[in-house]
Amino acid sequence: MKQYHKVSSLLAVFAFAGLVFFAMSTEAQFSITTVEDSAFSGKERMRPIVSFDHDAHMAYDAVEDCNTCHHMWEDGKKMDNADSIGMECSACHLAEPGNSEMNLISAYHRLCRTCHLNEKAGPVLCGECHAGEK
Ligand code: HEC
Ligand code: HEC
Ligand code: HEC
Ligand code: HEC
Repeated sequence: MKQYHKVSSLLAVFAFAGLVFFAMSTEAQFSITTVEDSAFSGKERMRPIVSFDHDAHMAYDAVEDCNTCHHMWEDGKKMDNADSIGMECSACHLAEPGNSEMNLISAYHRLCRTCHLNEKAGPVLCGECHAGEK
C-alpha cells in the first residue's frame, strides 16, 4: 500500500512536469520572430531572413484576427469564420515563378507590405524586412 502511494505520487509529479512542459512548448510556437517558410529552406536564399514579431503583430489595431493572415477561401471569397492556422503559406501558395496571387513570394509581399502601406506604419523596403542573417 505504502509502495503504491509512492509510485502514484511520483507519477503525479511526472504528469505535472509534463503539463508544464506542454504549456511552455505551445507558447513557444507563437513567439516566432522570423518568417522561414520551408519552401525556401534548403535552397540558396536570395535575401536575408525576414524579421517578424508574431506576438507584437497581435496587438496592432490593423490585425483583426488570426485569419487576417491565416486565411481560408471559398468560391473566390475570404471566409469569415475559418482559418488556416497550422498550415504554412506554401501549403497553398506555390514557390514557382509566376505573378498571380498564388505565387508564394508575391503572396508574402502582398500580405505584409500592403498592410504596412495602408497603415503608413511598418517596413516597406526590402532591407527593412529582410533584415536578418542570410
Ligand atoms: C500578421 C500576420 C499573422 C497573424 C495575424 C497571425 N499569424 Fe500566425 N503566422 C504568420 C506567419 C507569416 C507565420 C509563418 C508561416 C510560415 O512559415 O509559412 C505564422 C506561423 C504561425 C504558427 C506556426 C508557428 C511555428 O512555430 O512554425 C502558428 C501556430 C500560428 N502562426 C498561429 C497563429 C494564431 C493562433 C494567430 C491568432 C492569434 C495567428 N497565428 C495570427 C502570420 C500571422
Ligand atoms: C488553405 C490555403 C491557403 C493558405 C494556407 C494561405 N492562403 Fe493565401 N490565398 C489562398 C487562396 C485560395 C487565395 C485566393 C486567390 C484567388 O482568388 O485567386 C489566397 C489569396 C491570397 C492573397 C491575395 C488576396 C489578399 O487577401 O490580399 C494574399 C496576399 C495571400 N493569399 C497571402 C497568404 C499568406 C502570406 C499566407 C500565409 C500566412 C497565406 N496566404 C496562406 C489560399 C491560402
Ligand atoms: C494587417 C496588418 C499587418 C500585416 C498583415 C503585417 N504587418 Fe507588420 N506591422 C504592422 C504594423 C501596423 C506595424 C507597425 C507597428 C508600429 O510601428 O507601431 C508593423 C511592423 C512590422 C515590423 C517592424 C517591427 C515591429 O514589429 O514593429 C516588421 C519587421 C514587420 N511588421 C514585418 C511583417 C511581416 C514580415 C509581415 C508578413 C508576414 C507583416 N509584417 C504583416 C501591420 C501588419
Ligand atoms: C514587408 C516585408 C517585406 C518586404 C518589404 C520585402 N519582403 Fe521579400 N519576403 C518577405 C517575406 C515574409 C518572405 C518569405 C520569407 C521566408 O519564408 O523565408 C519574403 C521572401 C522573399 C524572397 C524569397 C526568399 C529568398 O530569399 O530567396 C525574395 C527573393 C524576396 N523576398 C525579395 C524581396 C525584394 C527584392 C524586396 C524589395 C523589392 C522584398 N523582398 C521586400 C517580406 C518582405
